[in-house]
Amino acid sequence: MDETLPDPSPKSRREQPEVNPGDETQLGAGQQAGMATPTSRPHSTFQAKDRDLSGTLLGDYRLVRKLAVGGMGEVYEGVQLKLDRQVAIKLLSEELSHEEEFLARFEREAKSAAALNHPNVVQVYDFGQAHGHYYFVMELVDGTDLAEFVKQHGKLTVPDALNYLEQAVAALKFAVEHAIIHRDVKPANLMLTRDGVVKVSDLGLAKKLTDDSDVTMTGVGMGSPHFLAPEQADDAAHVDHRADVYALGVMLLYLLSGRRPFEGASNFSVVLAHANKPLPTGGELGTPLPDEVERFIKRMTAKRPEGRYQDYDELLTDLRRVKAGLRPSFNWQQFFRDPQHLQRIALGTAAIIIVALAAPLAMPNKKPATTIRLPAWPADKAGSEAPSRPKSDAPSKKRPRR
Ligand SMILES: Nc1ncnc2c1ncn2[C@@H]1O[C@H](COP(=O)(O)OP(=O)(O)O)[C@@H](O)[C@H]1O
Ligand SMILES: [Mg+2]
Repeated sequence: MDETLPDPSPKSRREQPEVNPGDETQLGAGQQAGMATPTSRPHSTFQAKDRDLSGTLLGDYRLVRKLAVGGMGEVYEGVQLKLDRQVAIKLLSEELSHEEEFLARFEREAKSAAALNHPNVVQVYDFGQAHGHYYFVMELVDGTDLAEFVKQHGKLTVPDALNYLEQAVAALKFAVEHAIIHRDVKPANLMLTRDGVVKVSDLGLAKKLTDDSDVTMTGVGMGSPHFLAPEQADDAAHVDHRADVYALGVMLLYLLSGRRPFEGASNFSVVLAHANKPLPTGGELGTPLPDEVERFIKRMTAKRPEGRYQDYDELLTDLRRVKAGLRPSFNWQQFFRDPQHLQRIALGTAAIIIVALAAPLAMPNKKPATTIRLPAWPADKAGSEAPSRPKSDAPSKKRPRR
């Protein structure tokens, strides 16, 4: 099936799974060691997690079954006993449970994230500590995350990917309106329910570098290197929502091509590639995409935040155009806001001025003719009957009679 053509039939909505060159490194050590239970899903982690605490009581919560191992710990399906409701419980890893500064920040941010109530946001319920375990309670999503979904079903069609993106943007726009940004937008943080609803998880929470087993960088506010905006790698503490816009663009490319744009031997090399190398197109990743989609991704993933969509309304306007098969709008204001464009314009203007000034010097030094020799006037030869010669060299209005 041509991935560029919308195909509404449910069976052909997805491509066959494609082997991602980075897949081996995405497997957590625990999964390689065969820890996965029949109910757990293979997932990336940087730490071996070979325990299963199903059945454990943590305050008012009972862990029912292990769902996955993530970058910051294990995720369990659980039950809140007093309310008898199903929940998801994330146990923070031992390593993080000893970092007081991280815990304080995590708790603070969990409080503000709990205030976010939106159909496209995984609702935060609680945060607590019992028997030395720090845990975090949230809405249980009946479905899977988009990274796992792509691994199982292959790359998405353009309409599906744009639909999921639109739902994620609705969540992130709502969060920004409440002064919360994500900082770790990636397919594994976008849950997809069985009804096709996207729910963004980990919104507004302190982050540690996730993904891959060879962690070389840590720091609160750091996300997965594969979706990390260049400025976030530089200074994670001071990014704004435009870092999430970058990650959304890379994620869209991933959903459509089934591949992450840069694979490297280490997180560091991936981060460097995001900072310095042009993002490959869908075509370069083996999935040619419609021109409007390529342009849209390009705008979202400009290296500098000024070159991206400045707010989610602007992004949504173009998203709807692209969904309708139209090119993203050309925005002059945005064009001139981008320092890279300004630099190019300045260089171009300087080059034109230099060429204009240098051109006369480069010309061959030929003396210009100062006198013009006129052909001999007929009267000079023919005598007095001939009309008199006009005084000026300018052509006379009256034509001389012959
Ligand atoms: N609220 C939830 N409901 C159901 N599954 C979840 C929930 N939150 C996370 N998961 C599953 O657990 C996996 C690991 O989550 P997480 O620890 O947040 O990983 P990461 O550090 O990569 O963000 C997710 O990819 C998802 O499949
Ligand atoms: Mg997560």
